[in-house]
Amino acid sequence: MKYTIAVLPGDGIGPEVTNQAKKALDAVAEAYDHIFLYKEAEIGACAIETSGNPLPKKTIEICKKADAILYGAIGDPKFDKDPSLKIRPEQGLLQLRKELDLFCNVNPVKAFDQLIKNSPLRREIIKGTDLVIYRELTSGIYFGDKQSSKDGKKAYDICTYSEDEIARITHLAFKAAQDRKRKLTLIDKSNVLETSKLWRKTVTKISKEYKGVTLEYLYADNAAMKLILNPKKFDVILTDNLFGDLFSDEASVISGSIGVLASSSIGDKNSLFAPVHGTFPAAVGKDIANPLASILSAAMLLEHLGLHEEADAVERAVEKSLDLNITTEDIKGKNKYSASTSKVGDFISDYILNQEDSSLNFMNIHAGQSTII
Ligand code: IPM
Ligand code: MN
Repeated sequence: MKYTIAVLPGDGIGPEVTNQAKKALDAVAEAYDHIFLYKEAEIGACAIETSGNPLPKKTIEICKKADAILYGAIGDPKFDKDPSLKIRPEQGLLQLRKELDLFCNVNPVKAFDQLIKNSPLRREIIKGTDLVIYRELTSGIYFGDKQSSKDGKKAYDICTYSEDEIARITHLAFKAAQDRKRKLTLIDKSNVLETSKLWRKTVTKISKEYKGVTLEYLYADNAAMKLILNPKKFDVILTDNLFGDLFSDEASVISGSIGVLASSSIGDKNSLFAPVHGTFPAAVGKDIANPLASILSAAMLLEHLGLHEEADAVERAVEKSLDLNITTEDIKGKNKYSASTSKVGDFISDYILNQEDSSLNFMNIHAGQSTII
């Protein structure tokens, strides 16, 4: 089959890791006889530099026409120093979410056995964790009316939700729970916030259509604690835009490395696949950033296109790289045995292409003698 993929590498390490995801997709294309046509477009700080606009019209057009979007990261430290700047890289991402109505952000968090030792949390707490966060992405406080007073001494951000906005992501979250451990936890502050009360009412009503799924409610403050104390208890977490932003970063600690977490942002017509990590300015141009999150976001992209076997092949290749410790320095530590960004990408693509006959190669790779690494 032929697919058009919009590629938005963005800023910082975005281009470096996205290149490795493309390598993995190229290997999939060759092994499974597909054609992936990449259409590259700018977003974020690089787009501001070339056109003054963090989300040029052309980028929106390319994304709308594509079968899926592969996204890297955006941001530049020079913008962080001055929060009052009117044009900022993040606006590109927020506008893209709104423009394409990517209302459902899916963040799977798994404790990879091979990475447990990297987590600051104790092994017995995180081992076996397998949860997914469904974060509403196009409404709430992010997109409500906002204003600063002229004298700069007052400001507000309004949080709004409609029943429909809550309902559409709730259905997706319940459907996911049906195929998983059949538990859904709604995280809110319904003891304080009106929007949270609407979330509870709407989600409770919809839960009647999903009898096989147990619905549990947690206040956000309590959930923040429980997520770290006992992450294994969670299956599907459903929450609004701002809480979802916080909880997906908190949950990333459980995986042992934010460098392996991928996410998708789904709408009715378009969908975007991205690593959870950001631009990692200190690593730019050094070929040291972990490409696994970007490669796993390519796997999510394949899954979304209905290419299940192909997605499995990418995931297996990632597992293998972790098994064999062919990993970047964030996982392996700064020593001569850690692999570069591009070498990890080479290994993954090699494994996808030679799954049957490469066991011999792997021994060599491990001994550091292979030409692949
Ligand atoms: C994310 C990011 C964005 C957000 C930023 C870059 C605007 O943190 O995708 O989680 O807050 O949504
Ligand atoms: Mn975030």
